[in-house]
Amino acid sequence: MILVTGAAGNVGSHVLDLLVAGGHPVRALSRTPQQRAWSAEVDVVTGDLVDPASLKAALTGVDSVFLFAVPGSGPAFVAAARRAGVRRVVLLSSGAVDDQAQVQDGPIATYHAEIEHALRGSGLAWTFLRPDVFAANSLMWAGQTRSGDVIRGAYAQATSAPVHEADIAAVAVAALTEDGHAGQVYRLTGPHSLTHADQATILGQALGRPIHYAEIPAEAVRQAMSAHVPGPILDDIFGTWAASIGRTAPVTTDIEKVTGRPARSYRDWVLDHAAAF
Ligand SMILES: NC(=O)c1ccc[n+]([C@@H]2O[C@H](COP(=O)([O-])OP(=O)(O)OC[C@H]3O[C@@H](n4cnc5c(N)ncnc54)[C@H](OP(=O)(O)O)[C@@H]3O)[C@@H](O)[C@H]2O)c1
Repeated sequence: MILVTGAAGNVGSHVLDLLVAGGHPVRALSRTPQQRAWSAEVDVVTGDLVDPASLKAALTGVDSVFLFAVPGSGPAFVAAARRAGVRRVVLLSSGAVDDQAQVQDGPIATYHAEIEHALRGSGLAWTFLRPDVFAANSLMWAGQTRSGDVIRGAYAQATSAPVHEADIAAVAVAALTEDGHAGQVYRLTGPHSLTHADQATILGQALGRPIHYAEIPAEAVRQAMSAHVPGPILDDIFGTWAASIGRTAPVTTDIEKVTGRPARSYRDWVLDHAAAF
């Protein structure tokens, strides 16, 4: 049995679908399973990664886990997984984690690195997926593209190599179901380094209308995002955007190495999500 946590999320929902399509016995963990329709093949359990007691039933009979990173959850998850006889864990970590750093820079890298640390010392077979910026982050522009052709946002020249969530999931499923991925750290990126302005242009081209990015002061965007995102995480995101200006985002081939298929482009991602825009 494979347990998928974060199963309602961008990546986890694809992991679940791919495992079901591959005929693997699958269980999904959710804090609020009643809020979603699940495929009949999925054994759905209620649980919370910050409540170790709720993991006992979820982990019973489980061999492998796709682990969503909840801050502070690493040690208790490892203890529960070991007790349950889990063998293998594939962690959705973050490209922000820096193996060379003595101290991780910012809360995003810090909490993912802490969970990686708990897994490294666990005796479980672990695989870490460290994605770059998700292409799905641009769904935050969808309200603007539905009502016009201008995306107003921070730092038009901030760069990243946006990665399709389905590619992250495909790597996860390989690591969950094939041998040879234990102890591997995969750095997952899209195939191109793009600025925010480039992303807006590609969005428009894929949708068949001219869309452009109009830079507005970062503070105004930060203010709007602060309704949903905690301040220290916002500091991290805005700091990363500012620091990326003028740099080409690193592009890796780990998705192709693991799945045998090149990473999907940002244009591919837009076409897969055109209805949202
Ligand atoms: N966005 C990026 O650019 C980026 C880049 C690199 C890494 N990442 C990492 O990728 C992850 C986000 O992945 P995603 O977009 O697939 O996630 P998502 O769409 O935000 O969904 C996460 C799911 O996790 C579940 N969840 C949240 N807290 C939980 C808890 N305490 N216990 C159990 N389940 C919990 C929720 O499901 P229920 O509500 O059903 O419980 C939720 O649907 C984060 O760790 C992030 O740091 C993101």
